[in-house]
Amino acid sequence: MLIKKAIFPVAGLGTRFLPATKAQPKEMLPVVDKPLIQYAVEEAYAAGIRQMIFVTGRSKRAIPDHFDSAPELEYELEASGKRELLELVRTIKPDDMECIYIRQAKALGLGHAVLCAECVVVNEPFAVLLADDLMVGEPPVLQQMVEQFREWKTSILAVQEVPADHTRRYGIVAGTPVSDRMMDVTRIVEKPAPEHAPSRLGVAGRYILTPDVFTEIRQQPRGVGGEIQLTDGIAGLLRRQKVFAYTYQGKRYDCGSKEGFLQANIELGLVHPEIGAGMREYLKTLTL
Ligand code: UTP
Repeated sequence: MLIKKAIFPVAGLGTRFLPATKAQPKEMLPVVDKPLIQYAVEEAYAAGIRQMIFVTGRSKRAIPDHFDSAPELEYELEASGKRELLELVRTIKPDDMECIYIRQAKALGLGHAVLCAECVVVNEPFAVLLADDLMVGEPPVLQQMVEQFREWKTSILAVQEVPADHTRRYGIVAGTPVSDRMMDVTRIVEKPAPEHAPSRLGVAGRYILTPDVFTEIRQQPRGVGGEIQLTDGIAGLLRRQKVFAYTYQGKRYDCGSKEGFLQANIELGLVHPEIGAGMREYLKTLTL
């Protein structure tokens, strides 16, 4: 069983990043020189996925534009002999990658956004990537999860240990360890207060889910914040089949928050082949 499709829910309002996200999607914010959504799509591609399903909403036109070909730009780059840049632009969407766009008319929550893609996914396991969680891992985090899926053949959530006072920002899971990095999940709670959190393992924005989750999401009333939560759908799924939590190897930047976004820019800037050395010198000059 292979994972062939990835859903990218990109219809959120991005209120934590206003005013930058008033007229442009937060997923198009660049970390160094690449928009967040491109990092996520590249991660899915590296995991062997070729069908990318974007659930978009208002003011998100920049995302399809980014993955479309740009004949005028390509012509200009070719005419001016900028072959490297031409190659860079052309590789944004490899020929064997398919992009599918679905509209979420109202931002009713992440669970609802995933449900919007059901008509394309139908009846096979699939991945979900939240592009505002920028993941850096070797091998890439979704690839690690796909490898685990081959072994366990059931839903897998990426998790990481979070500070006790941050549990309100995450879905928190608890369960029984089945191997070094894998846990059989028995409970999942959306954004609990630290005193109600069943553990400190927080769900990061990478999931592999079986299609049964659609039925569960459909049955959910509005959850935390009046939204249809993916976590509630997963909690329903847990009662019917196994769901595992995988402690991924790598680092996550919460680029939906200003602090995480700036940290990602600094750290990825420092290792960037073109600007890394200059950045290092510049940072040394700052007296903090
Ligand atoms: P977030 O809650 O982090 O995103 O949702 P948001 O609502 O855009 O941001 P803030 O909190 O207002 O700043 C996680 C992911 O789910 C998508 C978002 O685009 C983001 O990738 N999402 C959320 C949807 O696609 N639709 C929704 O209705 C809600």
